[in-house]
Amino acid sequence: MPKQSQRDLTEVLLSSQKLYKPSKEIIKEANVRDYDKILKQAARDPEKFWAEAALDLHWFKPWTKILDKSKKPFYKWFTGAKCNLAYNALDRHIGTDIEKKTAIIWEDETGKTRKYTYLELYQEVNKLVNGLRGIGVKKGDRVAVYMPNIPEIAMAMLACAKIGAMHSVVYAGFSATALADRINDAKAKVLFTADGSFRRGKVINLKDIADDAVKQCKSIKKVIVVKNNNEKINFNPKLETWYDDFVKGQSMEAKCAQMDSEDPAFVLYTSGTTSKPKGVVHVHGGYPVGVLRTIKWVFDLKGDEIFWCTADPGWITGHSYIIYGPLLAGVTTLMYEGMPDIPQPDRIWQVVEKYKVNVLYTAPTLIRAMMKYGPEWPAKHAMPSLKILGSVGEPINPEAWKWYYKYVGKNRCPVMDTWWQTETGSHMITPLPCAPLKAGSACKPFPGIIADVVDKKGKKAPTGKGGYLVIKNQWPSMIRTIFNNPERFIKTYWKEIKGVYFTGDIAFKDKDGYYWIQGRSDDVLKIAGHRLGTAEVESAFVSHKAVVEAGVIGVPDPVKGEVIKAFVILKQGITASDELKQELKTHVRTTLGPVAVIKDIAFVEKLPKTRSGKIMRRVLKAQELGLPLGDTSSLV
Ligand code: WT7
Repeated sequence: MPKQSQRDLTEVLLSSQKLYKPSKEIIKEANVRDYDKILKQAARDPEKFWAEAALDLHWFKPWTKILDKSKKPFYKWFTGAKCNLAYNALDRHIGTDIEKKTAIIWEDETGKTRKYTYLELYQEVNKLVNGLRGIGVKKGDRVAVYMPNIPEIAMAMLACAKIGAMHSVVYAGFSATALADRINDAKAKVLFTADGSFRRGKVINLKDIADDAVKQCKSIKKVIVVKNNNEKINFNPKLETWYDDFVKGQSMEAKCAQMDSEDPAFVLYTSGTTSKPKGVVHVHGGYPVGVLRTIKWVFDLKGDEIFWCTADPGWITGHSYIIYGPLLAGVTTLMYEGMPDIPQPDRIWQVVEKYKVNVLYTAPTLIRAMMKYGPEWPAKHAMPSLKILGSVGEPINPEAWKWYYKYVGKNRCPVMDTWWQTETGSHMITPLPCAPLKAGSACKPFPGIIADVVDKKGKKAPTGKGGYLVIKNQWPSMIRTIFNNPERFIKTYWKEIKGVYFTGDIAFKDKDGYYWIQGRSDDVLKIAGHRLGTAEVESAFVSHKAVVEAGVIGVPDPVKGEVIKAFVILKQGITASDELKQELKTHVRTTLGPVAVIKDIAFVEKLPKTRSGKIMRRVLKAQELGLPLGDTSSLV
């Protein structure tokens, strides 16, 4: 049985009764007006549906086959075609009306701003492409990116894609060790970073962290540093160059690499059930097909929208819906470098008003943090530009959904609760604006996606009963492999339940076929929507000299969704103390980065284990939360 749900089931069940119907205006304007009809139509022939979606993009050479299943689970889409992710996001718009449009608006916490039109962005990217080619970066190479949410991160990603080199973006909240592990796994040649970044009103010296990482990475031949905060930093001119110097004098034209549709475009690391993160690989052909079709339909884009996704480019949400999605759709993407409540709790609403944002795409943890400040903060801002709201990263509780709908959307804007994963590349279970909504439900699978809730044997779960969420067909933006580890790819996603893609989530469907996502079924934590493996956190604890063994669990938190509680066995002769607790918290934070929020540590004598020696986190959790212990037959 899947582990105990963390959602308040009574609230969910009550919420499943009420429908929020789309207004006439929303339907009249929508790209898709008849929800049931489009679902039925796409379900008749999903491959045809996706092939039609692919025609929104440019292909240097058309495909010979839509979906090739011959080497499953290494599925291939649009085989035989030639294309390029960056060409579709950028080059394709040059020479059209879009080139004069603003591609990127950037603002930071202090109110500094920059803007780039599509043409300007194209020229900046080309200069960078030429610079990178000049130092020998070529098709198939890996380039690591460790940067804040600034326009140069988009430029670096697009330039890599244009060359056909894979970018590997590492979230700037990760530590030096985490960065080094990811650089080494991918054997990246080049690293992009910046002198600093803003976080909670403070400047973080990213360059110092990057320096620590690079010391452990033999593969890095060049470090390109963006001057973002004018921080005083150490500089080694043999290895490093300032971004501005790097692109100075480069030509504003550059040739685009014609890639095979199945050539990898990027790798993005995400946590799994072991202590080693997995490098999820996405490709040039299918990935943009999924991203463009979902962003256009879920957020009802016509082409002149201001789109604000508050994620960080270091996560898949940022890849797909800050950078590639909005650019593929030819709209304006807003990049905000800072916290949503600095200097005041209405910062986010003020930015929405200032830039007349039409679509706001954010996370439940942010909504809950704003709820705590109270509705008077969004009430200061009319925000008439807002049309659609989005949520992603973890289940949104009905209470937060309703608050978002009422106080931010002013009862006017449909809330799109989008379920998907790093591995899926784009939205999988989500409403469309024309769908009747239920507060807290991700609605139904996107057209062209066939999902279900099943038991371990693959048998359909009865209505209202929890089970494993699986995807039964293939889709263009699906993960292609785990970098350098095809065995792990097969084992993680295709072996758990026969014949389907295993998501690792548990969910149930209600009588109307709406999905209610309950959370993870495995040892993956969701801290403020960020994925972290229990094994990763445990190995960070064990790397401290005072610790013999550790078991960690996620415990519910009203704002962050989940936070970490650790059970730690100390080495003999070491005395437990509050100082040691603090030291361990700091140690884990420096090992993994500020994403690893440790709420509490308990020093224990032993941990519950199976006969084969695996820590039974389920038992720790049941004890901690006062839940039934469940099946303990394997417990020693
Ligand atoms: C996991 C994927 C994909 C974007 C950000 C996270 C959880 C994501 C929802 C949602 C309930 C959600 C799932 C999923 N999740 N969106 N709308 N409702 N749960 O990407 O780090 O790859 O995490 O996030 O547990 O498996 P990620």
